[in-house]
Amino acid sequence: MKKNILIVGASGSIGHEFTKHYDLERNVEKIFALSRRNKDFDSKKIHPVIFDYNKDETFEDLIDALNNQPINTIIIATGLLHNKDVSPEKSVNNISVLGLNQLFHVNVFGPMLLIKKLLPLIKQSTLVKIIFLTARVGSITDNKLGGWYSYRSSKAALNMMIRTLSIELQRIKKENIVIGMHPGTVDSNLSKPFLKNVNHQILSPKESVAHMVKVIHRIKPEDSGNCFDIKGNVIDP
Ligand SMILES: NC(=O)c1ccc[n+]([C@@H]2O[C@H](COP(=O)([O-])OP(=O)(O)OC[C@H]3O[C@@H](n4cnc5c(N)ncnc54)[C@H](OP(=O)(O)O)[C@@H]3O)[C@@H](O)[C@H]2O)c1
Repeated sequence: MKKNILIVGASGSIGHEFTKHYDLERNVEKIFALSRRNKDFDSKKIHPVIFDYNKDETFEDLIDALNNQPINTIIIATGLLHNKDVSPEKSVNNISVLGLNQLFHVNVFGPMLLIKKLLPLIKQSTLVKIIFLTARVGSITDNKLGGWYSYRSSKAALNMMIRTLSIELQRIKKENIVIGMHPGTVDSNLSKPFLKNVNHQILSPKESVAHMVKVIHRIKPEDSGNCFDIKGNVIDP
């Protein structure tokens, strides 16, 4: 059966690479490529849709654009670590309401409100996989360095949302899958200012997506609710 895929953040480094990857897959019928600004994709399979977590009207426009078509895979590839107003906190002293609000809005509230909006479609689709891009720094067990309060805690909150959603969606259909994926350290707009301090492997978006699609392909309903690294290992919460 051919599948339809919805990618949120198709303008981002990783989201763009996912879009290009699925465009080449023969069993993919349509890709809804959501982004804040229109991206040119030279493919009949790819349907660009303008979408912004900060603009409620774009949620309505999306539902119109989908026009009740089934969705089989949803990839949430949006995320925020820094922008002109906020940067990762080194100390609790740097925490601000502005930073917390912006990061939680893009990393947690927006994606979950989108899933809420898509729920009727998810319920009527045959098999649904939902992949949220999370981050290893959202693991409480893994936190040995400290810092990055808003980003770490927004991803930890996202991971709890993933687990909770996975339970609800498997009550609807036991084949449904909801997981988080850590993409590795990837050269992107989000990571660029911090890469000079990294002493482990830095992946290109293409390399990261090549790993992740293998994990996504072999993931099973019993894996639902967990977060995985690019090798397919579960990341401790
Ligand atoms: N890169 C890494 O090393 C790394 C490591 C761990 C986890 N991750 C996670 O991987 C995911 C993708 O990151 P990336 O590296 O590809 O970053 P990126 O290139 O900065 O992409 C981020 C995406 O989020 C979108 N976005 C931001 N605010 C939005 C909003 N209000 N509404 C809708 N979309 C919004 C951006 O849209 P615009 O293009 O319009 O700005 C862009 O498409 C994120 O969840 C990130 O936390 C990345």
